[in-house]
Amino acid sequence: MEYVETIYAHPSFNRNRDPILEVLRDWLPPTARVLEIASGSGQHAIYFQAALPATKWQPSDPDPDCRESITAWAERKKSTISPPLSIDAEAENWGISGGENFDAIVCINMIHTTPRSSTDGLMKHASELLPKDGLLFLYGPFKRSGQHVSESNRRFDEDLRRRNPEWGIADVEIIISGAERENLALSEIIEMPQNNLSVIFKRK
Ligand SMILES: C[S@@+](CC[C@H](N)C(=O)[O-])C[C@H]1O[C@@H](n2cnc3c(N)ncnc32)[C@H](O)[C@@H]1O
Repeated sequence: MEYVETIYAHPSFNRNRDPILEVLRDWLPPTARVLEIASGSGQHAIYFQAALPATKWQPSDPDPDCRESITAWAERKKSTISPPLSIDAEAENWGISGGENFDAIVCINMIHTTPRSSTDGLMKHASELLPKDGLLFLYGPFKRSGQHVSESNRRFDEDLRRRNPEWGIADVEIIISGAERENLALSEIIEMPQNNLSVIFKRK
């Protein structure tokens, strides 16, 4: 049987890549070493690495099919991203050795498709891994003050919760409180197209 590699392509990538890139361009130090959590297809890591060539991107995903997709895209695009790591945000140990340092952690569209424990793990490890003033960048749909910001987000949330009762669009204020408990201070909330937010924290 012919082997066909796994290569994913998310339609949302084509819509959100440039708005996210503009925020990252404003916030990331030019030579930032970036750890991406929940890289999915790998398209974002490859796009941002190419657009910000002095940065160094380390993609990751716990799903082996996603890691295969990341590797396949990287080969296809001749990308200089690092080979993907298997990181489960909830895991006690992320398997990052002491010698590996990151200036920023980027996590796009994970929070609403994982249980709260994954977000808690993300915050805990970000706090441990990042240096002072290191950045945690989150992107995705969020509620504000307990309310959906659009009817389409409300319907999306219902659909997510039907698929998995532990998933769903989180309240950004709850995410911010969780981050504060882990020494991550909110720097900015930026409204993005299609009712998404970029939420940026700095390690205190
Ligand atoms: C909706 S996709 C987003 C993928 C990509 N960031 C994007 O925006 O296209 C969610 C991703 O989260 C990953 N994921 C699920 N549980 C996770 C966990 N506990 N830790 C890290 N990533 C997780 C999935 O494998 C999947 O690739």
